[in-house]
Amino acid sequence: MVLTAVEDLKSEAGREAATDVASGMRLGLGTGSTAAYFLRHLGARLASGELTDVVGVPTSVRTEKAARRLGIPLGTLSELAPLDLTVDGADEVDPKLNLIKGLGGALLREKMVAQASDRFVVVVDDAKLVRRLGELAPVPVEVVPFEFDSHWRWLQALGADPQLRRNESGDVFVTDNGLLIIDCRFVKGIDDPQELENRLMHRAGVVDSGLFPGLADEVVVAGGGGVYRMSAGEG
Ligand code: A5P
Repeated sequence: MVLTAVEDLKSEAGREAATDVASGMRLGLGTGSTAAYFLRHLGARLASGELTDVVGVPTSVRTEKAARRLGIPLGTLSELAPLDLTVDGADEVDPKLNLIKGLGGALLREKMVAQASDRFVVVVDDAKLVRRLGELAPVPVEVVPFEFDSHWRWLQALGADPQLRRNESGDVFVTDNGLLIIDCRFVKGIDDPQELENRLMHRAGVVDSGLFPGLADEVVVAGGGGVYRMSAGEG
């Protein structure tokens, strides 16, 4: 099959990942336009009776609403962890399957759910594949509102060009957790995603970063030539 439009690619990646779900599984449900296709294909498999006894933990209010509309039963991490499988999108994927996530603003819940999962599968179209993280996307850094602008100079010293995220109407973007996001563009790319993650996570006031180093087990990639999978350790 030859695939072209980006939406078709996202849908095909979501469809392929939905085949990983078996009856009785406890799932993490990702956020974003590609994860939304996974939810649709999952919902269709549940509605047809092909799958039963599946329950999911949503990674955002948006995903929770979509899952309810699609008839996907929901639970919480405290009830269900460890999860069997989480499927989520990404903004960048490097050859070692390190990720940047969070352009949709759900990074903190996404990372909590991914870390609570035995298996973490990422769904992307092939435009998200990069040689080095930072080529396309900024790293979102979720911070508490208190003195959020005190981080600027520190982030710049790490090589970032920080910008406070705003929504389309120009208001400051507030996450589902009541926190703010500083989007950090690394114009020279990111040499060592794990080292940068360690530094960010040790900074008081930073709650989480959109860097997901070493978390993905597999990436389902949809491109013009079809759908394929990349596994951790192959890169
Ligand atoms: C949401 O916070 C993000 O992590 C998304 O998973 C990521 O931005 C990918 O979204 P799209 O599939 O919409 O590109």
